[in-house]
Amino acid sequence: MGKTIQKAVFPVGGMGTRFLPATKAIPKEMLPVVDKPLMQYAVEEAYAAGIREMIFVTGRHKRAIEDHFDTAYELEAELEASNKRALLELVYAIKPDDMDCVYVRQPRALGLGHAVLCAEKLVGDEPFAVLLADDLMVGQDQADGGATVLQQMVAAFGQNPGTVLAVQDVPREDTRRYGVVDVHGASDRMAEVFGMVEKPKPELAPSTLAVAGRYILTPAVFDSIRRQPTGAGGEIQLTDGIAALIGVEKVYAFRYQGKRYDCGSKEGFLEATMDLALANPELSAGVRAHMNRIINGS
Ligand code: UTP
Repeated sequence: MGKTIQKAVFPVGGMGTRFLPATKAIPKEMLPVVDKPLMQYAVEEAYAAGIREMIFVTGRHKRAIEDHFDTAYELEAELEASNKRALLELVYAIKPDDMDCVYVRQPRALGLGHAVLCAEKLVGDEPFAVLLADDLMVGQDQADGGATVLQQMVAAFGQNPGTVLAVQDVPREDTRRYGVVDVHGASDRMAEVFGMVEKPKPELAPSTLAVAGRYILTPAVFDSIRRQPTGAGGEIQLTDGIAALIGVEKVYAFRYQGKRYDCGSKEGFLEATMDLALANPELSAGVRAHMNRIINGS
């Protein structure tokens, strides 16, 4: 098994119903946090981790994602003609020349496991990363050159090849919103996983370590997903496919250093918007002043 990760899969075939009506015609991954779509944050994270082949598993209504990473002739010509160099650089930087984007359709939203299966031919027989763009991840001190979450995971994978799941501690009452892992050595940065449950009730959760939307998977996961029975509504779960690999291959939980924003939910999206606006040098003073006015009721 190679020790570097060269391909990233972005499953973007979901319906985004929690964000209706905004997501009726626009994919939720194109919703902007401050000035950048969620999709671009995730692609930049993968690029920073050394990945150059981006595989998007899209669905109907997701054309805006392909357009975002494609050339925009009219826009570029306009900016060129008016000599707006800084804006032009911003547009060019969306897709660096050494980055490839490939697209495959998920014909029906049959679950995350099914979406990952749709990428099988493009991934081939090598380990790969999966990034859920609606989880916006900010590595600790990332703005000051600190590693992104996926960079941390790729480094961990280099030390211990196998499946690597990004996990974070959550309050016990929140376990029903996540996949939760069972590990020995729950305080270690990298711990071997012995079990995994999707959305357990707090009293039944094996730990409070919840899986976030970043994975490094091995090609064995494809067959494993295929062997799982389909759940309610024909959904094929990624968690089940990974869980079935435990005991066959090494599966690790990796406690990343950084913060996760669940931008598939309105609360998480607003938190990300506030935090990233406060971290933005152009916006922070104004946003802070506005927040103070709200708090002080003036
Ligand atoms: P979610 O559970 O957030 O589903 O999927 P969703 O349909 O996108 O959103 P809601 O719940 O209706 O608001 C988690 C991730 O898996 C992808 C989604 O795009 C998201 O990144 N996904 C889900 C697929 O790519 N295909 C699917 O069939 C289901």
